[in-house]
Amino acid sequence: MSVNQYIKPWTTEVKDGHLVIGGCDVVELVKKYGSPLYVIDEKTLRTVCKEYIEAFTEYPNVSILYASKALATSAIFKIVTQEGLGLDVVSGGEIYTAYKAGIDMSKLMFNGNNKQDWELESALDVGVGRISVDNFHDIELLGKITEQNNKTADILLRITPGIDCHTHEYIQTGHLDSKFGFDLTQVDDAVKLIKTTYPKINIKGLHAHIGSQIFDTAGYVDEAKILVKELARINKEYGLTLSELNLGGGLGVKYVETDTPPDIKHVANTVIKTLLAEFKEHNLSDIELYIEPGRSVISTSGVTLYTAGASKQVPHGTKYISVDGGMADNPRPAMYQAEYTCDVANKMDITEKETVTIAGRYCESGDILIKEISLPPIVSGDILCIYNTGAYNYSMASNYNRVQKIGMVLVNNSQSDIIVYRETLEDLISHDNIPDRLK
Ligand code: LLP
Repeated sequence: MSVNQYIKPWTTEVKDGHLVIGGCDVVELVKKYGSPLYVIDEKTLRTVCKEYIEAFTEYPNVSILYASKALATSAIFKIVTQEGLGLDVVSGGEIYTAYKAGIDMSKLMFNGNNKQDWELESALDVGVGRISVDNFHDIELLGKITEQNNKTADILLRITPGIDCHTHEYIQTGHLDSKFGFDLTQVDDAVKLIKTTYPKINIKGLHAHIGSQIFDTAGYVDEAKILVKELARINKEYGLTLSELNLGGGLGVKYVETDTPPDIKHVANTVIKTLLAEFKEHNLSDIELYIEPGRSVISTSGVTLYTAGASKQVPHGTKYISVDGGMADNPRPAMYQAEYTCDVANKMDITEKETVTIAGRYCESGDILIKEISLPPIVSGDILCIYNTGAYNYSMASNYNRVQKIGMVLVNNSQSDIIVYRETLEDLISHDNIPDRLK
C-alpha cells in the first residue's frame, strides 16, 4: 500500500491512551504550541516523496514536481526538494517562497491561467525552469516580457484534453468547458502565434491536468494518449521537435474508509506503459515527462488538532461538539462537502461511542467539519485530531471572523519544530491603516 491509501500518518500510534504522531504525544503538542494546530509528520512526507521517485524509476527521463498549491511553506519546500522533487508553482508568492528557501529555481514550473506581468518577470529573473502557457493572453504577455528583457522562455502549452474525470465539479479541470488551457482547436493558432511573433519563446512540449482527488486511473491513460498524439501531430505539421510532456497531478487520497485511491506505483506503471506504447506508435523517443502531484504528496502527512469547547444536544436531534477552529483553517467541508476522519487524541483507549457532529467556531451554519461521526463521549478540553489535512487546508486558510491563522509544527523522531508561526493579534492589524481624516 502506498502512503495516499492511508488515512493517518505512517507513524501514528497509541501510547497510554494518547495519540502519538512522529513520536510526539499530540496532547503534549497542544500544551506546548497551543490549539488549534497543524501537524506535519516528516517521515510520512519523505516516504511518499521516495515512493513517487521509486514508482517512476522505470521511466528514466522524469521530473516529479510537487504541486505547491497544496501546501506552500519554506520548510515543506526544503523537504520535498531534498527528496528530489521539483516544484509546480502558480504565483509570485510561491516563486518567492521557493527562492528565499534556496531552492534550485530550474526545477520549478510556473502554471496559472492569469499570470501577472510582475510574476512572469520575476520567474524569468530568478530562472524558473519552465512556464506553462495557458492562453493567448499569456503568450502575448510573455512574448512582450521576453523581448523587453531580452530573455528567452522555455514553455509548455497547456491544453484542455476534454476528459471528464469523476470528482467534485470545482476540482475538475481537464473537461472541455474549463477556464484552463487551450482547447484542442486552439492549439494550432497558439503554435503559429509563437512561431511567427515571439522568437524568444521556445515551445518545449505540452501540459495538461485533468482534475484533483482522482481515483480512476483510466483518466490518465486517456490524457496520455491525447497528449502524445497532439505532440506528434504538432511536430509533424510544424517541423518541430517538442519533447516534453506534463501530465499534471490529481491522484486522490483516502479521507474516509470508503475512499479507494489507487496505489502510486500502479498509476505510474499504467502511465508509463501507455506512454511507451503511444511513443512507439507515433515514432517518438526521449520524451521528458513531468508529473505534478500535490494532494497525494502532502495530505496524509498532515493532521489538525483542535480543542473541544461548547456542546449542544438538539432535543431529539444532532449532538454538536464545537471546536476552536473550523472553516478558516479547513474550508474544504464547506466548499466541497469534503469528508474527514477524526479521533479523540486523549481518549484513544475508550471503547464507548456516541454519534456527534463536529462544528467549527465560525459564524456560519455551514461551518461543520464532520457530520455524524462515532467517537468516544467528548467533553470540553478534549483534543480532537482530524486526519489528512496536509493538503489545501493551510493553503486555503483565511482570517474569517478576524481570527488568527493557526501555526504548524513538524514532527519526527519525537522532536517537534515550528514551521509556521501562529499569527498574533498584532499580525491581524499589521496591514490596517487608519487614514488621518478618521483619527
Ligand atoms: N497541476 C495543476 C495544473 C493543478 O491545477 C493542480 C491542482 C495540481 C497540479 C495538483 O493537483 P493535486 O495532485 O493536488 O490533486 N482546493 C481543491 C483542490 C484544487 C486543485 C487545483 N489544482 C481541494 O481542496 O480539493
